[in-house]
Amino acid sequence: MAINRIVNTTVHEEDKAEEKFENTLRPHDFANYIGQDRLKKNLKLAIDAAKKRGEPVDHILLYGPPGLGKTTMATVIANEMGTQIRITSGPAISRAADLASLLTSLKDGDILFIDEIHRLSTSIEEVLYSAMEDFKLDIMLGKGPTAKSLRLDLPKFTIIGATTRVGDLAAPLRDRFGIMHRLEFYNPTEIESIIHRSADILKVKINDEAAQQIAARSRLTPRIANRLLKRTRDFADINGDGIVDTSIASQALELLEIDLMGLDPADRRLLETIIVNHKGGPVGVDTLAAITGDERSTIEDFFEPYLLQIGFLERTPRGRKVTPRAYEHLGKDKPASHNQESLV
Ligand SMILES: Nc1ncnc2c1ncn2[C@@H]1O[C@H](COP(=O)(O)OP(=O)(O)O)[C@@H](O)[C@H]1O
Ligand SMILES: [Mg+2]
Repeated sequence: MAINRIVNTTVHEEDKAEEKFENTLRPHDFANYIGQDRLKKNLKLAIDAAKKRGEPVDHILLYGPPGLGKTTMATVIANEMGTQIRITSGPAISRAADLASLLTSLKDGDILFIDEIHRLSTSIEEVLYSAMEDFKLDIMLGKGPTAKSLRLDLPKFTIIGATTRVGDLAAPLRDRFGIMHRLEFYNPTEIESIIHRSADILKVKINDEAAQQIAARSRLTPRIANRLLKRTRDFADINGDGIVDTSIASQALELLEIDLMGLDPADRRLLETIIVNHKGGPVGVDTLAAITGDERSTIEDFFEPYLLQIGFLERTPRGRKVTPRAYEHLGKDKPASHNQESLV
C-alpha cells in the first residue's frame, strides 16, 4: 500500500527514470547545496584542513531520514576534495572478497560511499575495521590448518557511510568515523529555494506563490519537493501552457490529495485511527504498522520522523501519542484529558 505513496521518500532501485531525474537535480558543490549550514560549515573545515595537510579527509558518517541529501552530500564532498567517488551499498557487499576488490581498486584520496551502511553483515564490518583504522586489509588464504593470513597495504581512502538507522550500526564501526553528522529537516524557505533551483534546471517557469504552495506540502524534504515539482509541471503541460502558476499548482496538488501540512491520505488515516480506536494513544509502533500495513521499519524511518518533527505525534515511554495540534489539523475534538495536559 505504501509503495505508491508520493510522499514515500525511498527511491526504488529499479526505478531508473526516477534515479536519472534525481541525478539531474543533484547539486555538485557546497554553493549549490542549499541549507544544512552546520553540516556544511563542519565539512568545509575538515576538507580545508585535509587539503592543507595533503591527506584524505576523515571517514564521515551521514545519518537521518531519507531524501534529505546524504547521497548528494557524499558527491559534493568528492567534488570539493577533487577526488573520485565509488558508490556502493551495505546489501551490495555480501562477501569479504567483494569488499577486498573494492578497497584494492581505490587510489590514494578516493572516496568509497557506502549507502545503507547499517545493512553490512558482521563479518564485512570486521574487515572494515582495520581497513578504516590502519589502511590495512587482512585476508585469509586457503582454509583449515594450512590457511595463511595476509596483510595488504591499502591506499589512504575515505569512507563516507550513509544510514537512516544510526542506532543499528555496531558501536566499533560507528567509532571509526571521525565525523558523524545528522541531516536535519529543511525549513520551508530552504525548500522553496530548492524548488526554484530545480525549476531552473528543468526549465520550468514557476511563480513564487506556486513554489510556496509546493514547499508547504513537501514534508520539509528535498526529494519530495522535487517530486511534487515534477508532478505539477506535468499537470501544467497537459492542462495549461506549461507555466506553473498559483492556480495550476493548487489544482495539481489537490489532485494528489496532499494537504497543507504535507499529509497524504495514509498519514491522515493513521492519525485518525489512533484518535478513534486508541483514544489518541499511546500506541506501540507495531500498532502503527498494523494500521497502515507497513513494515515497522518503514514507519520508523520514513513516516514517523516527519510527524514527530511537525509535532503531530509525540514519543512517550509507553508509545506514540497524537498531539492536540494533530487533533486541530484533522478537525477532531480533543479528549478532556488531553486538554488538561496542554493547560499545564
Ligand atoms: N541541500 C540540497 N540542495 C538541493 N537539492 C537537494 C539538497 N539535498 C537533497 N537535494 C535533492 O534531493 C534529492 C534527494 O537527495 P539524496 O541525496 O538522494 O537524499 P538521501 O541520500 O538522503 O536519501 C536529490 O535529487 C537532490 O537533488
Ligand atoms: Mg541516498
